[in-house]
Amino acid sequence: MNDKNFKRYTITTALPYANGPVHIGHLAGVYVPADIYVRYLRAQGRDVAFIGGSDEHGVPITIKARNEGITPQDVVDKYHGIIKESFKDFGISFDIYSRTSNEMHHKTASEFFEKLYKEGKFIEKSNEQYYDAENNMFLADRYITGECPHCGYEKAYGDQCESCGTSLSATDLINPKSAVSGNVPVMKETKHWYLPLDQYEPWLKEWIVEGHKDDWRPNVYGQCKSWIDNGLHARAVTRDLDWGVKVPIEGADGKVLYVWFDAPIGYISATKELTPDWEKYWKDEDTKLVHFIGKDNIVFHCIIFPAMLKAEGSYIMPDNVPSNEFLNLEGDKISTSRNWAVWLHEYLKDFPEQQDVLRYVLTANAPETKDNDFTWKDFQTRNNSELVAILGNFVNRALQLTKKYYGSVVPSLNELSDYDKEVLSSIEGFPAKITKALEGYKFREALRETMNLARLGNKYLADEEPWKVYKTDEKRVETILNIALQIVANLGILADPFLPFSMNKLREMLNMELLTWDEAGATDLLKAGHQMNKPALLFKQIEDKEIAAQVQKLADTKEANAMAEHKAKPAKENIGFDDFTKLDIRVGTILEAEKIKKTKKLLKIKVDTGIDQRTVVSGIAEFYKPEDIIGKQVSILVNLAPKNLKGIDSQGMILMAEDADGKLVFVEPSDKVGEGSEVR
Ligand code: MF3
Ligand code: ZN
Repeated sequence: MNDKNFKRYTITTALPYANGPVHIGHLAGVYVPADIYVRYLRAQGRDVAFIGGSDEHGVPITIKARNEGITPQDVVDKYHGIIKESFKDFGISFDIYSRTSNEMHHKTASEFFEKLYKEGKFIEKSNEQYYDAENNMFLADRYITGECPHCGYEKAYGDQCESCGTSLSATDLINPKSAVSGNVPVMKETKHWYLPLDQYEPWLKEWIVEGHKDDWRPNVYGQCKSWIDNGLHARAVTRDLDWGVKVPIEGADGKVLYVWFDAPIGYISATKELTPDWEKYWKDEDTKLVHFIGKDNIVFHCIIFPAMLKAEGSYIMPDNVPSNEFLNLEGDKISTSRNWAVWLHEYLKDFPEQQDVLRYVLTANAPETKDNDFTWKDFQTRNNSELVAILGNFVNRALQLTKKYYGSVVPSLNELSDYDKEVLSSIEGFPAKITKALEGYKFREALRETMNLARLGNKYLADEEPWKVYKTDEKRVETILNIALQIVANLGILADPFLPFSMNKLREMLNMELLTWDEAGATDLLKAGHQMNKPALLFKQIEDKEIAAQVQKLADTKEANAMAEHKAKPAKENIGFDDFTKLDIRVGTILEAEKIKKTKKLLKIKVDTGIDQRTVVSGIAEFYKPEDIIGKQVSILVNLAPKNLKGIDSQGMILMAEDADGKLVFVEPSDKVGEGSEVR
């Protein structure tokens, strides 16, 4: 299991598009598990290259630039900066975080293409593709939208339907339209280079379908197998666009490499940037290559990129491609364009010292085998009743008691009870369990086991009650606290990959270096007589009002989206002027208002209409308090036939405008006018 035979590790994380900041979905799916894995490997003293960077090409970026009237370079500069900074502040411990617009990458990707081209690994093909005649451009990938032939979603893209996830060709779309002008596109001939994936099918079958049946996650394996079973076809690796890596051959003006061709090469370019000795991380069979990705990236990392590497010939293949399902937010799909997300850079602003809380929650609730939901309530509960109440509480009790009784000097281990022996031997068993889960990319399970160690400590102290025993048997307390402190020290190693900020703090309190993973499990990590530092709390409660603020922020987003998406209903059928004049609408003033008992929505309102004073029943109690509307001038339809509502005769109707989210507001005159003024 613990594969010591690999000499080194190349761990990559999907390069996020630099067209928006990073959110919790990215973190839970890719960066947090990858960082845990890497920190674990480093704790074992392994040689690791942890590679990340921004994906700065592709149509989403040029579309954003066009919409905002700035250059694509402006877009990527802005978001690369935000993303890089927020990863750093969040403790994602990349050895390098690079970007695909830099020179090293252009050179690397371009040479890669050139080599394949020269060796005849591509098929050159001309065909007709969608073209926007008004803007003189081919409509690659997301530049074309239309109806998905599989699910009917109306805003599917030329390369993929985001509603059902199917990968598409532009010509599959029903009623295609240019995303730039909205025009119906024309067809125009163009030449491109294709990677004949079908030629790699036998090898892919052997390598994945037969070779990785048992060690790749079922979701990853299943997707690959179904792609292969459906038959592979040549895929174009170039596009008619002006943003990207230029196709480095003659006669290819105005063409760039397809973003999914250049981006994964970005892993290699970044490694080159990291070290002149980069080749050993990519070309030595003793290197274990692991790609951490989200589920929408599976085919690119398991089929297309490997086929590219195979065609090139000198590279190793990934040993595993752990890919998570999606994380939803409060029951809805996370969406950058709809601002439905918890953004990392904003989280770091709101919870600047609490990186580990988010790391913890995203791991404990990681969408490893199925989609999962992030809720702020769960975030609070996991912090307050797990991090604070279990881990924090245990550590604090052990350290405070040692401070109180022994001036923070580790006491000695004296005579052992059977219970002590049992606890000591179970400490020894933890590293193997946690290691096994980590090696199998089961991060939730690994975290659960780690927390069980803290639970063990908590239970041990609760059972032994050293604060009581101290009065009668001081020697016994030395032993109890020594054992408790060994558990604390073990957590300082084993919980470090998950909670690096807090464990760093913990080791400072313990006055202990970060020991290697192999030392975990020992029950003499802190020697008797060792002087520790002053203890402080590791975690703090998250209050209801902090959660309420986050929930409110999301509610605001929902409302803003509803407004933005609100489409006015189509107009009703025409009526004659006579029909209109039948409506007698007046300006009236509200004199009295009260809530109608046993109803949620109804107010009884008395209005001075200029003609008379009358009572109307109005369904606005959710939006207005009775006392707030007295004296308001409103529009009222006075010749509506009276109607009995809840035992009250309602004579007329106050006119309300209904907002996109169903909210009702009065239609008021813009200046004060006399009661009874006609509205026409
Ligand atoms: N930018 C892609 C996405 O966010 C991921 C690219 S991964 C790489 O879906 F391998 F191509 F770099
Ligand atoms: Zn679809």
